[in-house]
Amino acid sequence: MSALHQLRIADWLKTTPTGQTITVSGWVRTKRGNKDIAFVALSDGSTINTLQIVAELVNFDEEIIKKIQTGCSLRVTGALVASQGAGQTVDLQAQKIEILGEADAEKFPLQKKKHTLEFLREIAHLRPRTNTFGAILRIRHALAFAIHKYFNDHHFYYIHAPIITGSDAEGAGEMFRVSTIDPQNPPKTGNGEIDYSQDFFGKSANLTVSGQLESELAAMALSRVYTFGPTFRAENSNTARHLAEFWMIEPEMAFFELTDNMDLAEDFLQYLIKYAMEHCADDLVFLEKRLIEEESQLKKEDRNPMPLLEKLKFVSETAFERITYTEAVAILEKSGRKFEFPVKWGIDLQSEHERYLVEKHFKKPVILTNYPKDIKAFYMKLDEDGKTVRAMDVLFPGIGEIIGGSQREEDYEKLSKRIDEMGIHRESLWWYLETRQYGTVPHSGFGLGFERLVLFVTGMGNIRDVIPFPRTPKNLEF
Ligand code: 4AD
Ligand code: MG
Repeated sequence: MSALHQLRIADWLKTTPTGQTITVSGWVRTKRGNKDIAFVALSDGSTINTLQIVAELVNFDEEIIKKIQTGCSLRVTGALVASQGAGQTVDLQAQKIEILGEADAEKFPLQKKKHTLEFLREIAHLRPRTNTFGAILRIRHALAFAIHKYFNDHHFYYIHAPIITGSDAEGAGEMFRVSTIDPQNPPKTGNGEIDYSQDFFGKSANLTVSGQLESELAAMALSRVYTFGPTFRAENSNTARHLAEFWMIEPEMAFFELTDNMDLAEDFLQYLIKYAMEHCADDLVFLEKRLIEEESQLKKEDRNPMPLLEKLKFVSETAFERITYTEAVAILEKSGRKFEFPVKWGIDLQSEHERYLVEKHFKKPVILTNYPKDIKAFYMKLDEDGKTVRAMDVLFPGIGEIIGGSQREEDYEKLSKRIDEMGIHRESLWWYLETRQYGTVPHSGFGLGFERLVLFVTGMGNIRDVIPFPRTPKNLEF
């Protein structure tokens, strides 16, 4: 049978065993036994659970049995039978064992003992073989799939925004340069600066920080669109919430105002959490147990107030609190808390402020709206007061900001003025401005940080552990 149609361990574990002959392939997690029999736990990554292979030693060459060690890969044919032992429902009574790839268990970096997440980051090429990372990668996949499904079901079109760009969408200037100029001998302009007109694109180019501007262009024709791609930020923030390369989901909708945008964000997040609970139950139960074990070392006030699954259920069923930035500042000022960054109207809220609102004050997700214009991007729609913009950030427990978005300024004159006020090079945005001259409409959108979502759903503590190969300052292995 073609490998394509072969059943996986996940499928066999759900099958009624009748002694049928089956073949499975995978990696050995553990081997135990005695002089007569060996029990091998085999994983093929299709589930958190392993298939128990039972090998009666008389039936096999001694050499083969010796080579079965943690980390090696096998193909096994045998009879699927009801298990005699506790802990599993079926066993595979091995008739034929083929060693595909040997591994010396003593040298294999993944030992049976528990490894720290920090150590596992140093062996990111092997960590998918651990239970924890297997679970995270399956959940990550399920969420990515659910995102496309949600949008398809709601009539959004998937737009591929470019990764190399000549503009700075967020105006924050934290971009990675893309260039083929010889660093030893760069062409110079008359005043001694590097002459990017001689570079590959004939101008200075960067990796994108957001696909938003391009998705706005598409929304002005297709009404509802979204991007889902890698984005890059050269911000030197070595935190548990920041990556230099992360994936962002950016829906953009014509005819949506800020409230519609909030309704979408809330419905979308709740759908994704429910989808994971429904499709990744085994993995989530495993991660919940892991977390409880890990937190048992901590003081009570440092532990998560709810076990993982209860938290997911709660957030997926509870209406998010919606308040303005101005109301939030008043709550923070009245809180009597001594924050590291003192609060006053106009400041950019820090994670300590966001987490106070979500975890201590409201005890549920919060959508903060109408931020001061000076701390937000140029494209956000100005409020009537001229001081705030129609921004919205969704704040989650344990995470802080998970979504950032806004209604967009659709008025040509007002947008033009903001671009000039903020000192943005308007020539590089002529095409963006032009959409406001031809058939402009009210529109809105947001960006969901994919890894922050995976962080929330898996209950993990560090964003480096929810992406296969994290990119962070001074870290580019693998
Ligand atoms: O708030 P941000 O910067 O918004 C935008 O980029 C808009 N263009 C989105 C839009 O309206 N279409 O980023 C959006 C989200 C944040 O809320 C956060 O979840 C995530 O992207 N994010 C990061 N995730 C990981 N590492 C980083 N360095 C991140 N920076 C932002
Ligand atoms: Mg933001």
